[in-house]
Amino acid sequence: MGLRVSGIALRRVVVVVVVVRFQLWENQAMATSSLAGSVFSSNTLRNPIGNVATMRKRLVRMRAPRAEFQLRPLPYELDALEPHMSKETLEFHWGKHHKAYVDNLNKQVEGTEAERQNLSELVLSAYNDGNPKAYFNNAGQIWNHEFFWSSMSPSGGGEPQGELLELISSNFVSYKEFAEQFKRAAGSQFGSGWVWLVLRKDGKLEILKTPNALTPIVWDHIPLLVVDVWEHAYYLDYHNQRPKYLSKFLDNLVSWQAVGERLAQAKAFVNYGEPVTSEL
Ligand SMILES: *[C@@H]1O[C@H](CO)[C@@H](O)[C@H](O)[C@H]1NC(C)=O
Repeated sequence: MGLRVSGIALRRVVVVVVVVRFQLWENQAMATSSLAGSVFSSNTLRNPIGNVATMRKRLVRMRAPRAEFQLRPLPYELDALEPHMSKETLEFHWGKHHKAYVDNLNKQVEGTEAERQNLSELVLSAYNDGNPKAYFNNAGQIWNHEFFWSSMSPSGGGEPQGELLELISSNFVSYKEFAEQFKRAAGSQFGSGWVWLVLRKDGKLEILKTPNALTPIVWDHIPLLVVDVWEHAYYLDYHNQRPKYLSKFLDNLVSWQAVGERLAQAKAFVNYGEPVTSEL
């Protein structure tokens, strides 16, 4: 095929691509990402439309709901975290960065088996035991951002209470020591990434850093809290002063209520090492 294409010819190609794509969509064996590369040798071109009955069936199926990943709404208003995190930051961070991960993931997995998975399943399968697939970064970033948004609250900040405080104190000596270690970890994550408080399956708490889009669910840890240390999380409000952002995060934003709820849910999956009594 010649590569010099006039406007009309180009429109024809687009129509052919749309029709062929339509056909391919129905075909389960279509996990290929390069449409043009795979299509023009395909015999679907010979009879791209088929008869009216199959056409109608396809249209019905096209209207069926599809597992599209969504930009989930924030759990608060865009200006609710001011003055610690500005409306402008959330407009960019949620409205543009997070949205772009969603849009890009949808493009990457459209028409593949991955499209049918929920986000957690998708992150795990995309991680692929340490050989991440192309869409891992977008999937991981969506997972991490959703978790981050709900790790903050307009009435957040300060010390946790009750059982959570006890658990943190027994793992890190005191809340103050935990806060220091958390800020130190977050301050020393080189480049973009995330800093987590996770509950390990042996019942211990751990502070973990992950670069880029990596998330500790791939190691089977249970995340309780995360702070985003990508520059897009704090640059508009704090410029290059990451430590200042981290102090504000702990003093004014962190939702210990969310962390406590996550801990309560996580307990069922953790072995705290209590003796098992058998009823014989
Ligand atoms: C996603 O799928 C997994 C495995 O099927 C399931 O355990 C989990 O609850 C699902 N998550 C959501 C949010 O539906």
